[in-house]
Amino acid sequence: AASPVRPSATLSDAYSETIELADIDWDNLGFGIHSTDYMYIMKCPQGGSFSKGELQRFGNIELSPSAGVLNYGQGLFEGLKAYRKQDGNILLFRPEENAERMRMGAERMCMPSPTVEQFVEAVKATVLANKRWIPPPGKGSLYIRPLLMGSGAVLGLAPAPEYTFLIYVSPVGNYFKEGVAPINLVIERDLHRATPGGTGGVKTIGNYAAVLKAQSVAKAKGFSDVLYLDCVHKKYLEEVSSCNIFVVKDNVISTPAIKGTILPGITRKSIIDVARSLGFQVEERLVSVDELLKADEVFCTGTAVVISPVGSVTYLDKRVSYGGGGGFGAVAEQLYTVLTRLQMGLIEDEMNWTVEL
Ligand code: COI
Repeated sequence: AASPVRPSATLSDAYSETIELADIDWDNLGFGIHSTDYMYIMKCPQGGSFSKGELQRFGNIELSPSAGVLNYGQGLFEGLKAYRKQDGNILLFRPEENAERMRMGAERMCMPSPTVEQFVEAVKATVLANKRWIPPPGKGSLYIRPLLMGSGAVLGLAPAPEYTFLIYVSPVGNYFKEGVAPINLVIERDLHRATPGGTGGVKTIGNYAAVLKAQSVAKAKGFSDVLYLDCVHKKYLEEVSSCNIFVVKDNVISTPAIKGTILPGITRKSIIDVARSLGFQVEERLVSVDELLKADEVFCTGTAVVISPVGSVTYLDKRVSYGGGGGFGAVAEQLYTVLTRLQMGLIEDEMNWTVEL
């Protein structure tokens, strides 16, 4: 609900006078949901196409108990972020990439999707309507969560007759409770995130429900998250529950190639390009557990996690630590600095990746 501005001691006087901010604790954001002001909704009726999208007050939505998304998991989500610049303007990072990924996922999940233009315009409208929830520079970002779901009623297994595209937002800080400190991963051998020919390569909601069991067991043992292996050989790295993985050996950066079971992360793709532009050799290929255990550095990438250094990996009860478990490795730190400065508008965007509002 709307609430007055709380002047923050951490903002410059000039800044707090001109920018209205929601009344929350900007210094302790974490990664959780805040009830922001508006959400965006656009429907695709049976036999039609997406049109007449509109902003509505943020709140619960009504769904038939037999909606396709509730009964058969016909749903996709996306994640992207908006940053507030020092001058008050807002930056989105590669929103058309998310639009395109949703379009590809919709094809796999037998759903119609908004056009790239509709998606990007809807993201811009939602961000602007919730402007006061975008954290001040340096405090975090506004996480944008587009959803696409079969909202029409079905009983027999079939594509839903009606679809809903929805966007909501929430201010966020660090994804992992470790903050920017290194995370501790455990390798899961028996539960798999994805299978060849399945849906691991698209951002369908079921891929994330499927990892909850392994993730909760790992968290109960004190690990930050789980790293999954390929289900055929149980030997090659796939991804972590919520992010992609990179290993560094002798300054060569390697990451599992996209082959249908791994999510084509937009941060993953951007990091590969940033690393190559800095002169690093980057290889997209099969990466084995053995290589991981012998790596100099390991890090994860994702919209939510940005770049998270990995302090240790535990495999078959053996724990291997990286960089003394202390902080960012030199390569990850360099990539993190360039990527986040680009996203926050602190360096020139030679890649033309940001969209300013
Ligand atoms: C993201 O990084 O945006 C994701 O979609 C991962 C999610 C589990 C938070």
